[in-house]
Amino acid sequence: MKHLIAPSVLAADFSNLQRDFDMINSSRADWYHVDVMDGSFVPNISFGMNIVKTMKKMAQKPLDVHLMIDNPDQYLEAFKDAGADVLTVHYEACTHLHRTLSAIRALGMKAGVAINPHTSVHLLEDVLEQTDLVCIMSVNPGFGGQKFIYQTLAKIKALKARIIERNLSTMIEIDGGVGLQNAEEILKAGADVLVAGSSVFKSEDPIDTIDRLKNIGQ
Ligand code: DX5
Ligand code: ZN
Repeated sequence: MKHLIAPSVLAADFSNLQRDFDMINSSRADWYHVDVMDGSFVPNISFGMNIVKTMKKMAQKPLDVHLMIDNPDQYLEAFKDAGADVLTVHYEACTHLHRTLSAIRALGMKAGVAINPHTSVHLLEDVLEQTDLVCIMSVNPGFGGQKFIYQTLAKIKALKARIIERNLSTMIEIDGGVGLQNAEEILKAGADVLVAGSSVFKSEDPIDTIDRLKNIGQ
């Protein structure tokens, strides 16, 4: 499968969201990555389902919603209604992860689980069958523009090997500090989806940056 590019709208210009969405709509990006933060699970607050609903109206590509929140079970349906196509919860925020992932699928969304940098990929062994996407955080979640943590590469390789061994179709997404400087290594390690916030929106020509990220490995 050709890898996917998911620009993270956290780095977009919120006073010009329509302009930035038009730009991404006209680019070769595949998904919108939408970061929801609650000020409890992570030390930052971004936006909630009303803004996601507004984004859905502007987006011509699927919404990949990353919930960095405590008690995500309470909000699965609300994010489905807001327009999420992929819904990712954090391993560290879910006591009954198997149930949560099954509930996301039952609502008709792709089910994702994100892990913080300190969480081992081996802990996902018993839920891989219920998981459409594993988001390996390559920064500590909460903020855009942080530095990529290189130990992530070993985690990608280990998880990819297990997915292949078990003949699963679970996708691996990498989130945090991804850009043209490291995308090739990340893809070689086995990633399927690259989230890119600052490296896309803060670049001089975001459409060209997306093009280049998309062309890696061709
Ligand atoms: C971090 C978020 C990321 C963030 C990535 O907490 O989950 O999605 O927007 O931003 P960059 O690409 O700037 O590191
Ligand atoms: Zn994210």
